[in-house]
Amino acid sequence: MQQLHADFRDPRCARPVDFTEHDAPNQVVHNLEERGFAVVTMAEPGPPDAKLASLSAALRLGNPYIPALYRYAETKDYSASYSDIRSDTNDRHPGFNTTAGQAWHVDGLLDEIGDIRTTILYCVRAAHRGGNTLLFNSLAAFAELRERDPAAAEALLSPEALNRRSTIPAIDVNATGPVFSVDEEGDLITRYTDNETCTWNFSAGPPGGLHRGLAFLRAASDNPRYRLAMRLTPGQALVFRNDRLSHGRQPYEDKPNSRRHLVRALYANVPTTPN
Ligand SMILES: [Fe+2]
Repeated sequence: MQQLHADFRDPRCARPVDFTEHDAPNQVVHNLEERGFAVVTMAEPGPPDAKLASLSAALRLGNPYIPALYRYAETKDYSASYSDIRSDTNDRHPGFNTTAGQAWHVDGLLDEIGDIRTTILYCVRAAHRGGNTLLFNSLAAFAELRERDPAAAEALLSPEALNRRSTIPAIDVNATGPVFSVDEEGDLITRYTDNETCTWNFSAGPPGGLHRGLAFLRAASDNPRYRLAMRLTPGQALVFRNDRLSHGRQPYEDKPNSRRHLVRALYANVPTTPN
């Protein structure tokens, strides 16, 4: 997989694809294969839902995916195809509606590893200050670890390694699974998350392996080869492989009446083009 050799220090990584170009979908598919993500500059301003619909249609992503966590009566307020991510003191969602930073995670807390393959974040308005979106090439870091410390890698592959639980006050649900796995095509996939939803099972895998593996990943997530911070501007969409990258956000400040606003859509498919 090309993404295992990606270097996020390369300035070409964050260069946007112009959606008005006829081969824009091909460029997006190429960038996703090479580094796990693509930044796309959409044409004229317009309603975010329409932008997401035309981008997802061009990438043949199918219908948006509703995460398992949002299929309960208690969480149905979050079950829209497109989720607004902006600060809202009336809302208690721990990730969407605060100006705090977000530590590394993949989307889909209850979903099986690899189920949500694509995330799109469409920027309506950037923060007044801060609020960069962070990407971590956790798969490439894992591939490096597998070479250096196979026992630590084995612990991260254990189906008992990582429990994630909902931190939405209304509902108490959780799911256990591996941190990394290999899919049906033989490709690595990730569920690497390191935030308040996590409970690590340090008895999973070879003794000491999970401690070492986690320490390695935490260090690697600060390595600019594997970590990228990007500021999305209004009208830009970040398309990324949620099964191949972990992501997060830096804290931010809003100006009154001018809140940072992203719209998120999730898909079970990966972007493809007809040729
Ligand atoms: Fe997320």
